[in-house]
Amino acid sequence: MKALILAGGYGTRLRPLTLTQPKPLVEFANKQMILHQVEALAAVGVTTVVLAVSYRAEQLEQEMGCHAERLGVKIEFSQEEEPLGTAGPLALARAHLDGTDPFFVLNSDVICDFPFAAMIDFHKSHGAEATIAVTEVAEPSKYGVVVFEEQSGQISEFVEKPQEYVGNKINAGLYILSPAVLNRITLKPTSIEKEVFPFVAADGKLFAFVLPGFWMDVGQPVDFLKGQTLYLQHVRKTAPERLAAGPHIRGNVIVDATATLGSDCVIGPDVVIGASVRIESGVRLRGCTILAETRIQPNAFVTQSIIGRKCNIGSWVRMEGSSVLGDDVVVKEELYLNDAQVLPNKTISTSVPQRAVIM
Ligand code: GTP
Ligand code: GTP
Repeated sequence: MKALILAGGYGTRLRPLTLTQPKPLVEFANKQMILHQVEALAAVGVTTVVLAVSYRAEQLEQEMGCHAERLGVKIEFSQEEEPLGTAGPLALARAHLDGTDPFFVLNSDVICDFPFAAMIDFHKSHGAEATIAVTEVAEPSKYGVVVFEEQSGQISEFVEKPQEYVGNKINAGLYILSPAVLNRITLKPTSIEKEVFPFVAADGKLFAFVLPGFWMDVGQPVDFLKGQTLYLQHVRKTAPERLAAGPHIRGNVIVDATATLGSDCVIGPDVVIGASVRIESGVRLRGCTILAETRIQPNAFVTQSIIGRKCNIGSWVRMEGSSVLGDDVVVKEELYLNDAQVLPNKTISTSVPQRAVIM
């Protein structure tokens, strides 16, 4: 079986992290987002993964080339001259996908426990053109709701931001398509959600697979951190040995084996610390991500924030409120950052008490 991953978006909502690398390569729980997906695909026997790329394609090609061999999958690239949206890339990649077998299509920025084997069984059982994984949300009025028959899963319609309750399941960004769907798509910028699926549904050939377990679109900072909390809870249940333990650790925390923690730190809950990170003495971290090679100096406090690679956070700094630092940012000692978005390579010498983009 083959899969296509939509990996060509600009990832604007995850800036400044996506200013130095494409979103699919940003590390989530110490593994590049797209690798979570490629590994799960390989585990159910997918042999070829086509990456539909446009923005920063070279970086993706270089990085993924290294992983292909290790995972035993062939990785092919379908390169767009201009961004083709979420359906156009399928028309462009037609030669890669042609055949009689159904194939997976995935958004590159969703995290869940990827129940691909169950999805394949479901797709075979209904035998129609396409399967969409759907996930339950608490506030359906903010999303496009998928309306379907509960028993069979047959989708009747999509309702964008419903004012009245029509259901609480939304598109999870994971699909299985039979090749017939390709005949509905032309080579131009098109949205699969808005310009393809509603027509497949109108023909009665689109089915919803309800995702068991957790799900999150981690394409923006607040959701990235929410997704991290859910992911860590999942790891606690399925592979607790991957979580850090010890007197300094609170709740669910992942610390890369090459990171170092100073004395008297308190780390957690819901923290991920990347490769070669140096956390010095007395540091307090909760609900945050520290990407590789960053240094956090003594007594700094970081919560609800994402710190990019190779940053240097001064002692007694306090960071909170969805602050996101790009790569290679220096924050001078004792500063307060609240909801600060800091572009790569900046040095910050004054506090940022409220939402601001520092460039
Ligand atoms: P934002 O700029 O923050 O909206 O992020 P995004 O550009 O990634 O958009 P969005 O999250 O809506 O995209 C969903 C998925 O489709 C992601 O995996 C994107 O990489 C992918 N995607 C979006 N637009 C394109 C495109 O024009 N071409 C390709 N190949 N993939 C795309
Ligand atoms: P709760 O009180 O139930 O949230 O749990 P907790 O006991 O883990 O308390 P908290 O998370 O508030 O603090 C844990 C430890 O971190 C305590 O020893 C605090 O003194 C310390 N701590 C809290 N805030 C800071 C800070 O800004 N800087 C430093 N260096 N340490 C802090």
